[in-house]
Amino acid sequence: MNENIYTPDVVIVGGGVAGLTVALNLAPRKVCVITKNTLGVNTSSSWAQGGIAASIAVEDSHESHIDDTLKTAKGLADETVVRKIIIESNEAIKDLEAIGVQFDKNADGSFNLGLEGAHSFNRIVRSKGDSTGIEIMRGLIEQVKLSDHVTILENVSIDSIMNENNVIYGVVGRFIDKNIPDNHVVIQSSNVVLATGGLGGIYANTTNPRSSYGEGIALAAQAGAILSDMEFVQFHPTGLDFGLDPTPLATEAIRGEGAFLVNQNNERFMIGIHSKNELAPRDIIAQNIFKQIEMGNSVFLDCRHSIGQNFNTSFPQVYSYCLKADIDPANELIPIIPVAHYHIGGVKTDLKGKSSVEGLWCCGEVAATNIHGANRLASNSLLESLVFAKIVANEINSEPLKKQNDTISSSFIKTYKEKTKNRIRAKKYIWQLRSSMMRNLGIVRSQNSILRCLTDIIRIERESHSLSAKLSDMILVSKFIIVGASKRTESRGCHLRADFVSAKPQFLKHIDQTQTTLKKDIQIILNNASQSSKEQILAS
Ligand code: SIN
Repeated sequence: MNENIYTPDVVIVGGGVAGLTVALNLAPRKVCVITKNTLGVNTSSSWAQGGIAASIAVEDSHESHIDDTLKTAKGLADETVVRKIIIESNEAIKDLEAIGVQFDKNADGSFNLGLEGAHSFNRIVRSKGDSTGIEIMRGLIEQVKLSDHVTILENVSIDSIMNENNVIYGVVGRFIDKNIPDNHVVIQSSNVVLATGGLGGIYANTTNPRSSYGEGIALAAQAGAILSDMEFVQFHPTGLDFGLDPTPLATEAIRGEGAFLVNQNNERFMIGIHSKNELAPRDIIAQNIFKQIEMGNSVFLDCRHSIGQNFNTSFPQVYSYCLKADIDPANELIPIIPVAHYHIGGVKTDLKGKSSVEGLWCCGEVAATNIHGANRLASNSLLESLVFAKIVANEINSEPLKKQNDTISSSFIKTYKEKTKNRIRAKKYIWQLRSSMMRNLGIVRSQNSILRCLTDIIRIERESHSLSAKLSDMILVSKFIIVGASKRTESRGCHLRADFVSAKPQFLKHIDQTQTTLKKDIQIILNNASQSSKEQILAS
C-alpha cells in the first residue's frame, strides 16, 4: 500500500478563491492546500462571471450596500455579519490588486462598475466584463506558487476528517489516480479549513462544476458539525439553455446593461411584477421565469437593442458559448433557463469562521455565515469569501501554534482509512438523484414533492448499497435539504413552497441540523405523510 503523510500547521480543503486566500494569509504557518482537480481547473471560482460587489463608487455608500443586502435577504441575514463583510469590501479589492489582479477601469482610472439585480448602484467590480473569476484565480494561483509556506496537493479527494471528542487531528483522503487502487494520503493537523464550495452538482441543471456536490458539508456533518439553512438553494435566473451539463451562466450584468427577458411572444413578462423589472431580486426573477416555463412558454434574453454589436467585447465568455450554439446575441434571442447556482446554507460558522467543532473552520460557499439570509444579493459571495478567508487566517494566526500531534497512532488513522468508500462509478444513481432533486426540490417545493424526492433518495440508497463515496455524500446532503425544506412550512426568499405561499413571522429563524438529528427528522417526514399523499406519490 502507498502511504503519503503530511504534517502542516493547517490543512485547507479546497483550492478556489476562499481556500487560496486563507493559504496566502496564513504565512508563515505551513499550509497544505488540497484540491480534487488541477489547481484552478473546474472550480466555481474560476467560472464566476459577475464579480465582487463593492460600494466604492462616489455616489454609493456602504450603508446603501448593507441596506440592499438586508432587504434582499428577507429578514434572515445577520446585520452584524453583513456590516463586517461590506465594510471590508474596498480592502478586499485592494488586496487583490496588490497581487496583480487586473480589474476593468475607466479612462480616468476609476473602476468600470457593473450593475446586477437588486443593487441600488453600479457596484460590481469585474474583469474583462464576464471573466472575473478567471482573473482572480490567475492572480491567486501565481501568488500561491511563489509562496514557500504553501504545499499544493492536486487530484486528492478527502474522505474524512479525523476527530475525536471534539478535537481535530487532520484529514484522510486519496489521490484520484485510476491506476493505483489504495493510495491514501493522510494530512495530520490540528486545524482543518473547509473551503470546498457549494452543492449545485446534486441538481440536474446547475452552473456549478459536477465536482461541487456538497462534499465539504458531508465531511463536516460526519465530523459532528452543526449545519444551518440547508433548504436555501439559490437558482440563477439565466443559465444558457443550450443542453449542456453543467449549464453555462449568462451573468446578471447582461441585464444590468439593459437586456430584456422575453417569452416567445416577445412579451417582457417582468414588467408590472417588480418595480425594477429585469433587475428585481434573483428569487423573484427565477420564480417568474419558472412560471413562464410551467405555462409552456420559452424564455429568452434579448440583448439586441442594448448591448448589440458590443456583446463579444463586453461579455466574451457568454459570447463564446453563444457562438458554439450558433447564436449571435447581437441579432438573435438567447434561450435561458433558471439553474441551481449557489447554496446559501452550509456549515454553521461564527463571526470568526469557526464551526461547532473545535479546530474546524469554514469559509466561502460551504459556510453558513448568515450574510445572505434567505436570498443572496448578486456578487456578494466572492466578497464574503475574500473577507472571511482573511478573518479565518488571522484567527488561526492569532492562536498559539499547536504542537504537531505526532502521537496519533497508526491504528487510529487506520480506522478512518477503513471507512473510505469505493470510487466506483454510480452514474445511473447519481443521475436519478440529480433529476429528482431538480424536479422536486427545485425552485418550487411542496410537501408532496419533498416526500416524492425522499422516497427516491431512500430507494437510490437501498439499490446502490451506498458503495460510492460521491453518491453517499450526495445522498446525505440531499437529505439535509429535504429536512430543511420540509420543516420550513412558509415561502421566504429562494425557498418557495407551493403549499405555503407566504412568509410566516415564526420562521424568522434558522433551521439547524446535525447528523444525529437527521435520522429522526426523516422518520418524522415519513410518519407525517398522509395516506393520500403516499397514494398520490405511488400513483405518479
Ligand atoms: C452573475 O454573474 O450573474 C453571478 C453573480 C453571482 O452569482 O453572484
